[in-house]
Amino acid sequence: MKKDINPKREGFSSSIGVIAAVLGSAVGLGNIWKFPYVTGANGGAAFILVYLLCVALVGLPVMLSEHLIGRHTKSNAVGAFKALEPRRPWFLVGGAGVLSAFLIMAFYTTVAGWVYAYIFKAAGGALISTKPEDTSRVFNSLVSGVGEPLFWQVFVLLVIGTIIMAGVTKGIERVTKLLMPLLFILLLIIDIRALTLPGAGEGLEFLFKPDFSKITVSVVLAALGLAFFKLSVGMGAMITYGSYVGKNENLPKMAVKVALADTLVSLMAGIAIFPAVFALGFTPDQGPKLLFVIIPAVFNSMPFGKVFMVLFFMLTAVAATGAMLSLLEVPIAYLTEQYRWTRRKATILTILGIGLLGSTATLSNSLFANVTVFGRTFFDFFDFTTSNVLLPIGGIFIALFVGWQWGYAKVKRELSNEGHLKNDGLFHVFIFLVRFVVPLAIVLVLLAGLNLIDPIIAFLRDNISF
Ligand code: PHE
Repeated sequence: MKKDINPKREGFSSSIGVIAAVLGSAVGLGNIWKFPYVTGANGGAAFILVYLLCVALVGLPVMLSEHLIGRHTKSNAVGAFKALEPRRPWFLVGGAGVLSAFLIMAFYTTVAGWVYAYIFKAAGGALISTKPEDTSRVFNSLVSGVGEPLFWQVFVLLVIGTIIMAGVTKGIERVTKLLMPLLFILLLIIDIRALTLPGAGEGLEFLFKPDFSKITVSVVLAALGLAFFKLSVGMGAMITYGSYVGKNENLPKMAVKVALADTLVSLMAGIAIFPAVFALGFTPDQGPKLLFVIIPAVFNSMPFGKVFMVLFFMLTAVAATGAMLSLLEVPIAYLTEQYRWTRRKATILTILGIGLLGSTATLSNSLFANVTVFGRTFFDFFDFTTSNVLLPIGGIFIALFVGWQWGYAKVKRELSNEGHLKNDGLFHVFIFLVRFVVPLAIVLVLLAGLNLIDPIIAFLRDNISF
């Protein structure tokens, strides 16, 4: 038997627990808040098709790559690269991942705070209206405040800090395993309500009837970025979670299951929201507030709406919490393993750092409304740069590492559980994707989406003479 690098490390205790935790990382505000608002802003069905392509051809191979690296090294995002390639600077990929975790957490905790606040608003009756103007007013007054959204962000940070300190198996596994199925059932109920609203058809058309003229390079970049954000890939969260996965787990199967389930939840959230958007006379391009103004209006048009609404925001809060635990685990695993910090110290300091950085995102609609970084508010800057720049760049390097650096035979051995799984064909498809398709697709989309192609051609023309 091979000796573990770190025998005392905690791990997930069962197969179901592993899937639940990985799915718990993937499913979160990305499905319920971000997927609908980005789909709404990018024109609907055609965007969704591009998104599905990005998940299958780019997101999924990167997820599998991360699981392979993590499980093989049983190490955090930085330590994993150091273990595999001690003499080359590949560990910087893990370092960039730790940074991405901070930046994502900065705005994620803001939105999670809004969700937590909405549980209480829904219960207290503040959201009883089917009129978009009313639900918009409640939302605007929450986000343009100072004390209230900050309070909820701190609350969120305290909750996840407490769970993280309880450790991997006990904390993460227990919470996610229990509540994910419930979220699914509730989404199903809301979908049925939304689909039976008079005028729901237009929303379904928006979601499922593609208008390809809506596809531009920035739409494609948004789809790629969403795929990365959704699957929690490109920043080492899946390396870290992979490091807790047992040697007998079938990794390709797990990644496919997770991607399918995750996509299903996103589409269900879309079905909950878009029919109502049109039925209630909204436009789909509301941006980040879409969920918060539409969902209350839907619930108010159904029997027991208030009870369901409270439950919905509670389950969304749980989903967001599962995702945040995986985000937080990236710096925590790094700090405890690379610097031998105690879990307690690492958690407290990380939470403090995120709180400081995150407050700038939370105050982006009030005190810092006029402060911009590269033309965006703090909130939008963190949101855009992580999904659409940092995660895809991380994805390029992770794919290149597994495709070209790690070693063909070694990757094959890890993918097949030392030869126990007969998955040769799959291995070849995978290696082709990570060697060529993933890096090339991301580079092209990034260059085009960030408007860098013309400047690069001009630069080459001016500096290279034939
Ligand atoms: N996938 C999570 C969501 O969709 C967000 C996330 C991104 C979690 C990156 C971990 C790492 O909500």
